Order: sequence, then structure tokens, then C-alpha cells
Amino acid sequence: MQYQKILDTIKEELSTKQNKGKVASYIPELAKVDPNKFGMHLYCINSGHYGFGNEEEQFSIQSISKVFSLTLAMSLLNDELFERVDVEPSGDPFNSLVQLEYENGIPRNPLINSGALVIADILVSTLDNPKKQLLDFIHEITGNTGININLKVFNSEKKYSNRNASLLHLMKSFGNVKNDIETVLDLYIFQCSIAMSCKELATAFMVYANSGRTLFDKKQIISERKIKRINAIMQTCGFYDEAGEFSFRVGLPGKSGVGGGIAAIHPGQYAVTTWSPPLNPKGNSELGMYALERLTTLTGFSIF
Ligand code: DON
Repeated sequence: MQYQKILDTIKEELSTKQNKGKVASYIPELAKVDPNKFGMHLYCINSGHYGFGNEEEQFSIQSISKVFSLTLAMSLLNDELFERVDVEPSGDPFNSLVQLEYENGIPRNPLINSGALVIADILVSTLDNPKKQLLDFIHEITGNTGININLKVFNSEKKYSNRNASLLHLMKSFGNVKNDIETVLDLYIFQCSIAMSCKELATAFMVYANSGRTLFDKKQIISERKIKRINAIMQTCGFYDEAGEFSFRVGLPGKSGVGGGIAAIHPGQYAVTTWSPPLNPKGNSELGMYALERLTTLTGFSIF
């Protein structure tokens, strides 16, 4: 497959496309990001790296981190984890409280905020130093020990976290949060403020495309069975109330973040990432979704 040629075509198309999205502003530090940034990187199992634009510039990975925290939790626990968080699409916005009220504090899935907060609670209970161990995990799957948080984004989100605190209080009232709310919230905000580039994210997501193994040192990070399950959750729940639309238009498992990043995989083939900060009304990158739709159209190749 001539991936670089296809990416060059997408780059060309993007240069004439109007971006109707809006940069996330509910975390003030995110609102400062240049809306014109665009990066795309494709890491192919057989033929290596392709990309263009701001593919090596780090951005706030935000909710994409939910895939990493879920993977870490699944590597530590077995099916008991899914007694505390379900695996159904929510059809609701990422920070919604409504279903929790009538579903007894059990989040629909680990990729919406409530589910990721339960996962953070599990990591606080299970690990001695969850922040460090989550970063260590990302260092292990990227081979890059320089990856860290953006402290400005971390401090900015700390000031505007009432919504996530509400989710934690509601779930704690049902007994589904075991630790101190501030500690769990702190870990969750920490993971959202991790900064990575498209190239680094594609390297990390290779583990999901490559049956749970890194490509650069062939290390089995998590079992093939668990990776299959994580990919299934990304396919059905990775884009909140737009998971159906992403499946319909792109046809790959993936995960978005309000920093404007999207990471997606074609199992057995490649990991691909995009970064464009302006978001559509559902909180997913407007041009990122377009670029990925063009990728699977121009290659004639998706998981379906
Ligand atoms: O919980 C929040 O509000 C953010 N830090 C993360 C949300 C997010 O990235 C949702 N993505 N589309």
C-alpha cells in the first residue's frame, strides 16, 4: 500500500477544507492551542512510519489516556473489573451523569468519564504510585521515557473539575468509588494532561494493532485476548455519542480526546493518529475524523 502517497492526497485535500470545529474552551489552557495545527502519522506493521504536518509536536492527549489506564487496569485484574464498569456504548456525552443515577453508579463503559474515573479508583487501590506507574507504562509501550504531563494543562483542569467531582460523588454514594475523591480526581486529571505527539501515540497504539506486542522490541505487554476486548470497547465506545458515526464513516476502532487527538488502529495492519484541535459538537476532532474517513476510503481498506 502506498501510504505516503495517500497521506499526501489527504494533506492536499485538507488545505482547501474549511474547519467548522471549535477548540475546547472549558479547560482554559486548551483554548490557547493554535486551531490551525494539523498532524497525521501512520505506523504500519510491515513498512514503518509515514506522516505529515505537525506530527511530532506534543499535544494534550486528554481522553485518549483512558485507553492506557484501562489497559493497565486490565493487566492487573481479570473479569472482576467488569463488575464495576460495563462495556456498553452510552449514546450520551462523555461527561454525562444521567445513566449513573438509574444504573446504580455502574458506568456504561471505561471510555466515558465516569468509567475512566472508576478505572482511576481501581488504579489508586491497586498500585503504590499510580501516576508514576501509568507514565512508566506509556514509556514502556513507546520506548520513550521523555513523555510527561503538561503541568499548565494539569493545573488548568484542576480548577474546572466540578463535573468530574460530581461523577465521583454520585458513584461513591453507590459504593462504586472506594478511595478519597480528591486522590482519584487528581490521578484522572494527571492522565488527561499527558502530552504526546501523533508519532508517539501511533507507536503506543501499535500495541493494540499488533496483538498486544510492541513492534520496536517485540514485548508482549498484555494478552492477545485482552487486547481484542480493549479494541472492541474502542470500536463501540471510543467516540461517546458519536461512536456509531465514527464506525460508519471510518470503520476502525479508535479513541478521541478534547485536545483534538484521535488514535485508531487497523488490527494486524497499522496504528494511525491525527491531531487537529477544533472539535465538532460531540467533542471529536472535526478534521481528524475527516482525514481518517479519507484514509479508509482511499485505501479501500477498513475492518469491515
Ligand atoms: O474529563 C474531562 O473533561 C477531560 N479532561 C477529558 C475529556 C475528553 O477528552 C473527552 N473527549 N472527547
